[in-house]
Order: sequence, then C-alpha cells, then structure tokens
Amino acid sequence: MERTFVMVKPEGVARGLIGEVLARFERKGLKITRLAMGRVTTEQAEEHYAHLREKPFFGELVEYITSGPVAMAVVEGPDAVRHVRNLVGATNPLEAAPGTIRGDFAVELPYNIVHASDSPESAAAEIERFFGRS
Ligand code: TYD
Repeated sequence: MERTFVMVKPEGVARGLIGEVLARFERKGLKITRLAMGRVTTEQAEEHYAHLREKPFFGELVEYITSGPVAMAVVEGPDAVRHVRNLVGATNPLEAAPGTIRGDFAVELPYNIVHASDSPESAAAEIERFFGRS
C-alpha cells in the first residue's frame, strides 16, 4: 500500500472540477483517506516548488498556486504514486494524452489543474507540508 499527495490547483477549484478530479482516482480503485480545502502560503509554495527556483516562471508559479483556494487529498492504494501520475498526465497540457486529467481539462502551463507527488519520498514530504505531522 502506498500514499500520494494530490492538490486540485486554484483554477481547478474555480472551474468546479474538484469532484471530477477526485472521482477519477476513486473510479480507478484508489482510496481518498484525507481531504481538505485550504490556501497555499507563499512560504509553502516556495518550498513546494524549490526544484524550480531558478526557472524564469518561478515567480508566476508561486503567484498562481497561492492565488485562491485549493483542495488537498491523500490518495492511497497499491503503487498509488504512479497510478495517480498516469491519471494526471504529462506536465504540459499540450503533451498530456486525452483521457488524462490534464489532457482533458487544461490547455496551457502553468494552468494544469492538478498536482500529484512524483515519488513516495515527495509524497511523504508533501503530506507533512500540507497536512502537518500525523
Ligand atoms: P514540475 O514539478 O516539473 O511538474 P509536475 O507538476 O508535473 O510534477 O512542475 C511543477 C509545475 O510548474 C507544473 O505543474 C506547472 C509549472 N510549470 C510551468 O509553468 N512551466 C514549465 O515549463 C514547467 C516545467 C512547469
């Protein structure tokens, strides 16, 4: 059993897609074990996207992710990290296959609807970052 962290980003929430996104994980057979609405602080955003700090779009990215309410979830199941990443699709909506969340609902970066952890280690760090220690 594995845990991963998912966030429906501000434009996903604004467009009313929380249910649509989470339903895809449930339909697959994965379980939502934690769920919360919240706001990402600038400090959390800078830490969350630290690997992109040198990129020209870093400022825009932090501004975007902190711009409105988000939905955060812990999703569990066998190989949950990879299953969720497969369901989410490629980072760039232009490369995300139809049938994936980003392929179905997004057209351009940075507006790609959803974040999902890229490894079990990132998942553990992100769950702690956004839900706190449990
Ligand atoms: P990244 O961690 O590379 O991808 P993923 O979200 O698929 O794990 O990038 C984090 C976010 O940064 C990405 O979801 C959208 C944004 N981004 C851009 O706006 N432009 C870019 O060129 C890249 C690579 C990412």
